[in-house]
Amino acid sequence: MSHSFEYPDFVARFYDIIYKKVRSGVDTEYFMNKILGTSGKVLEIGVGTGRFFINALEKGADIYGIDISKSMIDILKTKLNPENHYRVITGDAASTKLDIKFDLILAPFHVFAHVLETTEQITCLNNVYEHLDEKGRFIFDVFVPNPKLMAEGINEVTDFEGEYEPGRKVRRIVSSKTDIVNQLLDVTMKFVWDENNKQAEKEWSLQMRLFFRYELEYLVKRSKLTLVNIFGDYQENLLNSDSKEFIVVCKK
Ligand SMILES: C[S@@+](CC[C@H](N)C(=O)[O-])C[C@H]1O[C@@H](n2cnc3c(N)ncnc32)[C@H](O)[C@@H]1O
Repeated sequence: MSHSFEYPDFVARFYDIIYKKVRSGVDTEYFMNKILGTSGKVLEIGVGTGRFFINALEKGADIYGIDISKSMIDILKTKLNPENHYRVITGDAASTKLDIKFDLILAPFHVFAHVLETTEQITCLNNVYEHLDEKGRFIFDVFVPNPKLMAEGINEVTDFEGEYEPGRKVRRIVSSKTDIVNQLLDVTMKFVWDENNKQAEKEWSLQMRLFFRYELEYLVKRSKLTLVNIFGDYQENLLNSDSKEFIVVCKK
């Protein structure tokens, strides 16, 4: 699989400060309940800097994490006691093989939208299958395509501004446009931050895959996994026309 979606170091550096504010209120309770409600082993695919992982480990979960981005894993490791470093692995979810079976595998916060090609998606789902316990569950979320954003795009909108250290600010400016035929979102994130009494600036362009409901159903059917349900929010309500997320639950 392509490694072009490794998060650059400046994105990893500001990840926690940004997503604690813009994301954690949305999905933390859901994923933490799933992790802490599992008595066996848990794997978080796309574990990132450990938004759930650190708290889950502290609360006693037998959790492991894998992530393709060394920059993200490096930050996660700084928060971990060295004796737990064996729990996090830098690798691609589609190809990394672990000699462990899990009761719960998660890919939280749109990790799967980074897997652009259908064949890679199937390979990834089948690799999850190989790592699931007989009664295990796999849960991933991807966003529901937003028709207004697809039509209009986003042009240089500041979606975060705050201090990353006392007296030092970071700002993120986002642009996006949609390639409907290829179901791809082209996103550019510009980071501007205070560094050594100057302003530093760096830009990252990435693509994310847009998924539609029936495509997700067919995708899981084409893999070795079995679809349990696709929910429309983090309270596990059924999908409806206002749903903003697909929460896909699969079993072996
Ligand atoms: C939006 S972040 C989510 C991080 C974390 N799960 C959270 O909720 O904060 C997506 C993560 O998925 C990772 N990722 C993307 N493609 C991956 C792949 N093929 N295998 C493993 N990790 C991947 C990225 O490196 C990134 O850390």
